Amino acid sequence: MKSKIKDILIHYKKILKDNNFDTYSLDVEVLLMNVTGFSKTKLYTDFDYTLTKEEFEKFESLFNRRLKNEPIAYIIGSCEFMGLNFLLNKDTLIPRGDTEILVEKAIDIIKENEFKSALDIGTGSGAIAISLAKYCNIPIDAVDINKNALLKAMENAKLNDIENINFIESNVFENVDNKYDVIVSNPPYIRTDVIPTLDANVKDYEPILALDGGESGLVFYEEIANNAHKYLNKGGYLLFEIGHDQARDVVKIMEDNNFCNINVLKDLSGLDRVVFGNIK
Ligand SMILES: C[S@@+](CC[C@H](N)C(=O)[O-])C[C@H]1O[C@@H](n2cnc3c(N)ncnc32)[C@H](O)[C@@H]1O
Repeated sequence: MKSKIKDILIHYKKILKDNNFDTYSLDVEVLLMNVTGFSKTKLYTDFDYTLTKEEFEKFESLFNRRLKNEPIAYIIGSCEFMGLNFLLNKDTLIPRGDTEILVEKAIDIIKENEFKSALDIGTGSGAIAISLAKYCNIPIDAVDINKNALLKAMENAKLNDIENINFIESNVFENVDNKYDVIVSNPPYIRTDVIPTLDANVKDYEPILALDGGESGLVFYEEIANNAHKYLNKGGYLLFEIGHDQARDVVKIMEDNNFCNINVLKDLSGLDRVVFGNIK
């Protein structure tokens, strides 16, 4: 196999395309950018560059991981969210574009009400907490039960020049003893019996702890909403990301816990994605 950029682009894109990878073109470009350190433009302007032996071997090893369905974000160890860069490990969920809807709503609420504090439950890579700290400049507490995810979130805070996040290892509220203006959470919400049916790139690579929402898929919504009053200031808001078919159940859970002004927001595909409301 020749190891000029132009030959690699043609040859490896075809392999991915033949194996039904929708993102075949971008995948090969991203892997090539990763091993050469080139920008996308440079890949195409330096088409005739021959990869060194080490670069080519690294490319092949990353490519073989992709061929086994490992998500690109885990292979290169990072992704973009809310215009910020996040490092990932096997303990952190890959932040999804849909979660930006939740973060944008939380930012609006914090700014409109001049809120001064927030708690992120199940912070994972820190995507939500770090984005809120960056764009609202308020102190945030961020909890996760997974220590290895928290370590990566701390690294991500540093990477994005954020100092006002307090990371807490905690089973939901267990080690939390403050009150907040906003509580935000993208909790695990997949029903346990649905997990084996998920796409291979999710079920084989993403942390089960980040996915499993128990038998009903609703255990975290119940636990958080049932206890949120103790941790919210007067007029404070609770915002959840939800699965597309969970709006009715989560609205009911919030109603049962005396939240008011409950709203559902849709994602860019038109699916229910966020539920939020506030206490009096
Ligand atoms: C769906 S992921 C969300 C990650 C990140 N906030 C995001 O939106 O990309 C859920 C997170 O909840 C964490 N988690 C699971 N069980 C938990 C628990 N009992 N207490 C606190 N965090 C938990 C997982 O480790 C995971 O990081």
